[in-house]
Amino acid sequence: MNTLMKLAAVALLAGVVGTSWSEEAPKGDAASGQRIYMAAGCFTCHGRVGQGGNFNFATPSLAHTVWPVEALRAFLRVGLNDMPAFSKEVLTDQQVADLHAFLQSLPGSRSPADFKLLNQ
Ligand code: HEC
Repeated sequence: MNTLMKLAAVALLAGVVGTSWSEEAPKGDAASGQRIYMAAGCFTCHGRVGQGGNFNFATPSLAHTVWPVEALRAFLRVGLNDMPAFSKEVLTDQQVADLHAFLQSLPGSRSPADFKLLNQ
């Protein structure tokens, strides 16, 4: 496991077990998060509704993320492989919180059973 992955894993774990962070995360706004998602270019690799896709490698779906906001922020600051890093100067903590709210609001993929046409 490389350092970046460890950082993301630690952030993820801390969020999951509810460890308190020195810095309280700002509350996110999904509508603002959608604008940031488009403006920062996340959509070019992850798709307009966070459905994921392919860049040089598979680009994960981000819809309805289970990541806590702290994990997203830690991950965005360092990037990984084809995933670029977004420093505090590029995306503030508030903007990351907005992005997080937007990603959580996305429904993600639906089951084929939900499509009437596929069940006739
Ligand atoms: C140039 C293409 C590209 C852009 C732009 C990009 N990403 Fe990514 N992202 C990737 C790739 C590729 C990965 C997978 C990295 C890996 O695991 O090797 C990734 C991984 C992620 C992950 C981890 C998801 C998981 O389940 O493993 C998150 C979260 C993420 N990106 C959020 C964002 C956000 C938010 C933005 C915009 C601020 C963004 N990305 C912009 C390509 C991109």
